[in-house]
Amino acid sequence: MRHLAVKFWTAVKHFTASHFETLGIASSLFGLVILFNPLIVQANTCALSLSSAPDLWRQGKKQESIWQLKEQGQLSEGLLREKELAQTLRNGEFKFAQKLAGGHTDPNLVQFSSGIRAVWKPLPKHSRQDNLEVAAYLVDHMLGLDVVPMTVPRAVNGQNGSMQYYIADAQSGNKHREYYHRKKGPMSLRLLDYLISNSDLWGGNLLVTPSGKVIAIDNAATFRPYIRPTEEAKLRTELTQIINLQYYRKLKNLTEQEIQRQLQPYLSQQRIEALITRKDMLLKMAKPIFEK
Ligand SMILES: Nc1ncnc2c1ncn2[C@@H]1O[C@H](COP(=O)(O)OP(=O)(O)OP(=O)(O)O)[C@@H](O)[C@H]1O
Ligand SMILES: [Mg+2]
Repeated sequence: MRHLAVKFWTAVKHFTASHFETLGIASSLFGLVILFNPLIVQANTCALSLSSAPDLWRQGKKQESIWQLKEQGQLSEGLLREKELAQTLRNGEFKFAQKLAGGHTDPNLVQFSSGIRAVWKPLPKHSRQDNLEVAAYLVDHMLGLDVVPMTVPRAVNGQNGSMQYYIADAQSGNKHREYYHRKKGPMSLRLLDYLISNSDLWGGNLLVTPSGKVIAIDNAATFRPYIRPTEEAKLRTELTQIINLQYYRKLKNLTEQEIQRQLQPYLSQQRIEALITRKDMLLKMAKPIFEK
């Protein structure tokens, strides 16, 4: 036995030596990154920051503080803070600061007198007044996915639109190789994108905070009002990346009435029904895995 162990150890040493000689240290490091990549990608629940929730709040990082509170199970405190932030975004005084790079939408950075910043987007003319950014936030919020910054409806000069909390200090996902595509993101994000049928999945629509939390912005190309014929087969191949037991339970507890109640002000009935069909399709497919 001991002989075998020595042989094994010698082989490992030989392999390591030649590995370093022929491929160099860089490739070994690359190997480590590959090895730990799934952990990095899945670890979206890591603490937002080393600062405590009250510190974050004092620093003006309101949404970050709320996510931290929820992560630590301080739900009633989180809810109170959420009400306060929503009140600012809905009614607070602000001024326009600058236009942000905009492709399809017209995002404007605004500065509130209370200190926080937000992104105001007017609703596109063809939208039939569906407020997709707000609806995406509500889906995120109903399931506690906590990847979309708070987004509320807000009209400016008679123009309806959405007001989304601005995440400062974050980097665009397209600067992170692992997030060039939103499909590479954590399960919370995958589940969100499936439910809202997001068709704009490039890394530029993600933000990554210094502590590695992934944030979903630009949820404007979403809520397809019908189910594509290929959708079910696609879901089958991606099922285990989209849902786990924790999310299965959350989704199962989310009633149709609650979805209707929250989304009716912002989405057409067709879009809501398509979302409910997607949810039911996912639950039906996942049931044999999680209810053995
Ligand atoms: N909530 C937010 N927090 C921080 N930055 C944001 C937020 N929303 C938007 N941004 C910044 O503004 C940019 C443009 O916003 P968004 O992607 O929503 O608009 P867009 O019209 O699709 O523009 P693009 O075509 O550049 O993606 C983002 O790439 C990001 O840098
Ligand atoms: Mg975008």
